Amino acid sequence: MADTLLLGRTLQFTGNPFLDGLGAAVVQDQGGVLIRDGLVAEVGDGAALRRAHPQAELHDHGSRLILPGFVDAHVHYPQTGIIASWGKRLIDWLNTYTFPEEMRFDDADHAARMAALYYDFSLANGITSAASFCTIHPASVDAYFEAARARGMRMIGGKVMMDRNAPEGLRDDAQSGYDESLALLETWHGVDRLGYAVTPRFAPTSTPAQLEAAGALWAEHPDCAMQTHLSEQREEIAWMRELFPDDPDYLAVYERFGLAGPGAVMGHAIHLEPREIAALVATGSGVAHCPTSNTFIGSGLCDVRGLVEAGVPVGLATDVGGGSSFSMLRTMAAAYEVGQLRGDSLHPAELMWLATQGSADCLRIGGEVGGLQPGREADLVVLDLASTPVITQRAGRAEDLWQALFPTIMLGDDRAVADVYIMGARRP
Ligand code: GUN
Ligand code: ZN
Repeated sequence: MADTLLLGRTLQFTGNPFLDGLGAAVVQDQGGVLIRDGLVAEVGDGAALRRAHPQAELHDHGSRLILPGFVDAHVHYPQTGIIASWGKRLIDWLNTYTFPEEMRFDDADHAARMAALYYDFSLANGITSAASFCTIHPASVDAYFEAARARGMRMIGGKVMMDRNAPEGLRDDAQSGYDESLALLETWHGVDRLGYAVTPRFAPTSTPAQLEAAGALWAEHPDCAMQTHLSEQREEIAWMRELFPDDPDYLAVYERFGLAGPGAVMGHAIHLEPREIAALVATGSGVAHCPTSNTFIGSGLCDVRGLVEAGVPVGLATDVGGGSSFSMLRTMAAAYEVGQLRGDSLHPAELMWLATQGSADCLRIGGEVGGLQPGREADLVVLDLASTPVITQRAGRAEDLWQALFPTIMLGDDRAVADVYIMGARRP
């Protein structure tokens, strides 16, 4: 296959801007990305790359911004159909909207239809990788991975394990949850670009026996991810305490069953005790920050900067359908707003880092995607920083890239996503 050369403004990270400062975000105004065999081969000055590779197929993106594809660190693809459901907090929202919809995924046709919609919406928003919860039904996992494979995407997912406090028809048990998860893991993990995640929904919907089985499965397959929810809402934490009265805090439950460690991704992690933050760091467990969900369901304000500075791997996540948008731009805007409500202004470079390298690192795929370094898989997004009249007039006053980008973060949506590349191939 011929090389492809993308010209445009490039954004890449040489470090973590939260820890290493804004110098870790490198912008090249007339840059270029050379792609060979689906991988980033070179990044640099556009004109120099053009001279050095005259045979390369040229994609000139002008002043548009070329950056790594967005990585959604926590999402529920089966909740696509119930996004924006009104008027409930977490536990009522699960019982009223979520569980009835998830029940429908025992039908493989429904699962395939919703997976196709999910990928359409995510890709339109520049999301090239994600970690999704499926439902308890193996067919929901097959549909998710089959659709990812057909699109050539690097995706992580797993069967939800849930054996109590859920309706009839939406519960497995400790043994069947283990057996079905193992079979799915053996079918899908490491196939093409796919990765399996052991997926106990959260402590309140699993018996200790099931959490133990999930921990055993993960211990037997430690290169898989492990995803669950942690300390999202105060009522949920009170419920967890009733169910696990002998554990000192929420994370301790997961630790007791071997469900903390590198590759663990805890959704939300808002109302944490100091011990839990220290334990996240000590175990190397990551956090998926879900700001549109946290405001939509009324959960609270996650201390993203505090977690990153403490040494927790943190990524950014839509959490659809508790989250209210498929747009990672809107998700970054919500992260900014959550920060403002905490008295902290996240910089556009920090927001972009969370949505790309931060999420990828949190999911342990940061060596493959999330950056533009040579050798990375060429999953890229091209952003139009003048996608609407309101954005255009505001960006027109910008004096540097960050001022030009911030209106797109705050006001942009899928109209700002001009192009998406998967393994160097531009999506039609
Ligand atoms: N906690 C347990 N399950 C869920 C879910 O589906 N969405 C959210 N936001 N929180 C959860
Ligand atoms: Zn979730």
